[in-house]
Amino acid sequence: MPKNARTEGFRWLWTYLSRHKAIFLPSLVALLLTAGLSMVFPWMMKDFVGEPSDDLRMGKNVSLVLSKVDQDMQILIGVLALQAFIGFWRVQGFIRSGEAALNDLRKEIFDHLTKLPVPFYHEQRSGTVSNRISADLAVVRETLLTTVPQACRQMVILILGLSYVFYSSWKLSLLMLSCIPFVVISLAIIGRKVKSYSQKAQDALADASSVVEEVTQSIAEVKAYGNEPFERNRYATALERFYEVTMSGAKTRAFFLSFIIFVMFGTISAVVWFGSRMLSQGLISQENFTGFILFSIFVGASLAAFPEIMAQISAMNGASERLRELLDEKIERQSGNVFPSCQGSISFDGVVFAYPTRPEHEVLRGITCQILPGQRIAIVGASGAGKSTIFALLQGFYQQNKGRILIDGTATDSVNLTDLRKHMAIVPQEVSLFGGTIAENILYGKTTANQEQVEAAARIANAHDFISSLPEGYQTTVGARGIKLSGGQRQRIAIARAVLADPRILLLDEATSALDAESERLVNEALERLMQGRTALVIAHRLSTVRNADRILVLHAGQIVESGTHDELMEMRGTYRMLVETQLT
Ligand SMILES: Nc1ncnc2c1ncn2[C@@H]1O[C@H](COP(=O)(O)OP(=O)(O)OP(=O)(O)O)[C@@H](O)[C@H]1O
Ligand SMILES: [Mg+2]
Repeated sequence: MPKNARTEGFRWLWTYLSRHKAIFLPSLVALLLTAGLSMVFPWMMKDFVGEPSDDLRMGKNVSLVLSKVDQDMQILIGVLALQAFIGFWRVQGFIRSGEAALNDLRKEIFDHLTKLPVPFYHEQRSGTVSNRISADLAVVRETLLTTVPQACRQMVILILGLSYVFYSSWKLSLLMLSCIPFVVISLAIIGRKVKSYSQKAQDALADASSVVEEVTQSIAEVKAYGNEPFERNRYATALERFYEVTMSGAKTRAFFLSFIIFVMFGTISAVVWFGSRMLSQGLISQENFTGFILFSIFVGASLAAFPEIMAQISAMNGASERLRELLDEKIERQSGNVFPSCQGSISFDGVVFAYPTRPEHEVLRGITCQILPGQRIAIVGASGAGKSTIFALLQGFYQQNKGRILIDGTATDSVNLTDLRKHMAIVPQEVSLFGGTIAENILYGKTTANQEQVEAAARIANAHDFISSLPEGYQTTVGARGIKLSGGQRQRIAIARAVLADPRILLLDEATSALDAESERLVNEALERLMQGRTALVIAHRLSTVRNADRILVLHAGQIVESGTHDELMEMRGTYRMLVETQLT
């Protein structure tokens, strides 16, 4: 670990916390105060236990002693009340400033997530980004709200406690502290070992958890193939591995714990034994001896809290490092020329593209074509030919390696991405709806639209009838992935969304899965209306679609190998004809 790694996480956290320092700093002062006040408790206790017996031994009047005890009690109650009062405010202050700082951080992370390019998400296993962020944020939160106050508190107690302990008897103090080197050295040796075991154990447990995650996510597939026993076995094996790893660390751990407990209690016994001898020889007063023991308990307890605090801090450093890495991820182009209006002409000029994850495999190998405003273009080609990739490039999700893509004569890589995307709407192959109502899902096309406009869009999309027939109509909640609606219904909602967005350019990825005849008719009719007067690029899987297209582009291995109308291409007896005969339905 580099020298400043321990503090770097805190320095980074301070950039968020410092915005709320008007609350945080007073709370910190209050915390130090209450920690200091908490030492009044053992101080008074030693008076209660030690002083009267010392006084009586010296022959003082019983009633005098009693009145002093009463006075002590009043002071103690007063201090406890003050401590409670300050504590009440500092706990609130810590929570308020801490949660406010965390919210700033959460917002900044989410802002950043929305600006990250699409490829970033494609390169991650689904769910890992959000899982990692929430786990890391939980660690940061725990540290900020619990560990930091705890550490400050223990530090004050340790300093004040040790000062008193040394003041009351330096001999006993040295005896007591003599056990610390043993503890520290064994901690250093064994702690490292335990840490590597627990890292391995954590990894093994994560492997087991991922089985649970995979199975619960694809439960339908698991059941469909009757693979429940297989999965149970896989989980059991993963758990066994976890158990083995844990067991290999258990001996070290057990030895370590027993050793520490032996050393600690051994030391305490030695101190008490030695102290009693000093007491009987009159080398220490009853009050000081009692005080020594009481303060030692506090010192011991706060020392015992430190390994936990250190562990939490190093977890926090790991978490904050991952979060900072995420915040350093390169974001999409945020600026660019404004592109307020659009006619809808598109041209590809020698576009070559390979996905960043497979730079050696060129998916598009020199695409050139001109599309006029309002034209309807069908793109056909075998699976993997690069059809969807063309859409991804048009929307500016990826940057082509060579060539240019022009919309209305403007190169797409110079314009503002938000502007560019506003001129397009996509109806994907598999529509997944957002969790929320149907109305909200349609409104996604244009968040400022009103209910009439939503309904009008739904009518155009042939969706109004089925939506109205639902008990809650437009307010029906659809699941995170719209599982309550059929494929055709979801598609019509996506069409309504596109109608509302009213873009110049449409990108349609025709569903490969066949809809039933009625559903298909409704979808086709809706699409037909949607495409009216717009430039439309359709990845076509159906013969009816290609027949109605102004032009068909035949894509093969990343190149346009044929281009023309249905009739022209059928004449050519080439790739297209073969596709029609074998694949298009
Ligand atoms: N995110 C990605 N990273 C790396 N390679 C990819 C990525 N997406 C697609 N590919 C590869 O690019 C090639 C073209 O994929 P694309 O999705 O464009 O095909 P497609 O023509 O739309 O096929 P389909 O008809 O099956 O949808 C394929 O070889 C695919 O493996
Ligand atoms: Mg595709």
